[in-house]
Amino acid sequence: MTIQQNNRNKILIAPSLLSADFSRLAEEVIAIEKAGADMLHLDVMDGVFVPNITFGPLIISSLRPYSKLIFDVHLMIESPERYIKDFAEAGADWISIHAEATIHLHRAIWKIKELDKKAGIALNPHTSINVLKYLLEDLDYVLIMTVNPGFGGQNFIKSCLKKIKDLKDLIEEKNLPILIQVDGGINSKTAPLVIEAGAQILVAGTAIFGEKDYVKAIEALKPST
Ligand code: DX5
Ligand code: ZN
Repeated sequence: MTIQQNNRNKILIAPSLLSADFSRLAEEVIAIEKAGADMLHLDVMDGVFVPNITFGPLIISSLRPYSKLIFDVHLMIESPERYIKDFAEAGADWISIHAEATIHLHRAIWKIKELDKKAGIALNPHTSINVLKYLLEDLDYVLIMTVNPGFGGQNFIKSCLKKIKDLKDLIEEKNLPILIQVDGGINSKTAPLVIEAGAQILVAGTAIFGEKDYVKAIEALKPST
């Protein structure tokens, strides 16, 4: 395998179902797996933590039989610890919770880990990576929001690049196997910037499901070399 292929393969693409056609969700999931997605990003919103409502465990368990993809569930809900078990049972493989959504972040992370799922913490654009300081060793991944959570199709917030870089440095300094995921406004223009800053998992809704050719759309987000 050449170095070029290695670099491309290091970056994982996670299409966000939020931008899919909700009248044909199962077909969309099948199509995106066939198109080469590395995982499926599922945005759960409660209308309280964010000003939008999407779906819950029932939709996720209904889609589970249609795909072998990793189901990466991004919980944008208040006190997520109340529902972690339900999402795990529904078929989530990875679960991220927002640092801003619970005062018992450590307990909530361990709830995810005890259910044998990959655990991640998501940070809103204004939230410092300092909140991760005493939790880092417990995490499988960190989701850096590059828009304010709640809606697809928003513009990438450039100041988040510094945060990705700072987190990357911290992870490298501690030599931890933690992946950095980015979410919001990722397209072929912003993808190289976040990759350069240290992101390894790119979530994208509009830039993938908003396109006709999903294969091309996924490829367009990967590094060219
Ligand atoms: C926003 C969600 C994102 C959203 C991204 O709160 O967390 O996953 O789907 O959408 P785009 O890629 O369109 O910014
Ligand atoms: Zn998301």
